[in-house]
Amino acid sequence: MGFLRFSCSRFPNIGTGRGPGGKFLGLLVLKRKKRRLKPKHRRTREPSMRGDDGSSFSEKQLIAFLLDLIFAGTDTTSNTLLFAFLHLMTHPDVQERCQKEIDEVLGEKEQASFEDRHMMPYTQAMIHEAQRLADMAPLAIFHTTTKDTRLMGYDIPKGTLIIPNLSSVLNEESQWKFPHDFNPSNFLNDQGEFVKPEAFMPFSAGARVCLGEGLARMELFLILVTLLRRFKFFWPEDAGVPDYTPIFGVVQRPKPYRLGVRLRGSGDATLGACGTGLHQQMAV
Ligand code: HEM
Repeated sequence: MGFLRFSCSRFPNIGTGRGPGGKFLGLLVLKRKKRRLKPKHRRTREPSMRGDDGSSFSEKQLIAFLLDLIFAGTDTTSNTLLFAFLHLMTHPDVQERCQKEIDEVLGEKEQASFEDRHMMPYTQAMIHEAQRLADMAPLAIFHTTTKDTRLMGYDIPKGTLIIPNLSSVLNEESQWKFPHDFNPSNFLNDQGEFVKPEAFMPFSAGARVCLGEGLARMELFLILVTLLRRFKFFWPEDAGVPDYTPIFGVVQRPKPYRLGVRLRGSGDATLGACGTGLHQQMAV
């Protein structure tokens, strides 16, 4: 519930209908009330009909879960994708190798499935490498020790604020073959098989590791594979020198850039009318 605590302190009016947070939630609650609920759902959902049924469900909790889902699950995945495209555009060799692997594995298959990842070690490595460099939540979420703790010879009293430094681990020179480059080899062994080093922890670690890790991994794989299969992404000639420095924040994002995109395997086919005639450029 870390995100909930954060959002409650940022939006003190939550649920009251006042201020940005309150209005947002007010809207949600309003929509819910407008909808007609089936009697069997009302029995489990509306406190007046539930009576004292011993259920742990509450309206407040439902709202908290929705907030968690929205705050924690949107910017993180979409900004990781923005970083991935930035690297793919500026490393055409990596992009082409992924596309070759995707073509070979998917063949005539209509759609990619998450299971296909087992046969795509290089693409898997590329996605993990993009996540490593995206360093999405550099300081994860702050925690507090709930009891006196001893760690590696250090005494940490109960109530100490703990700030995990994920950036440090993801860039640690002793842990990565190419700590400062975009290089999928960081996740490949000598046989070209996918391996995930212990230092890969963009989702943090321990009991409070990201609850959406499984969903995020699925999203990243399916979105990237589906798009790479159909399109070639390239750095527009007049776009200057790429800048990989992230905009620092609770969740990081790349500086705005333009994305060149062209249909694959269709010669001079275009995605729409645009300046050069050969590609569509989007500002992201
Ligand atoms: C690339 C995408 C994502 C990254 C890098 C990421 C990263 C993180 C990190 C670092 C934390 C803090 C863990 C800690 O407290 O130490 C976290 C927490 C959390 N994430 Fe994610 N996340 C991603 C996507 C998602 C998605 C898609 C969802 C759900 C739809 C989600 C839900 C949550 C929730 C609910 C928490 C709080 C867990 C708790 O406090 O116990 N995340 N995430």
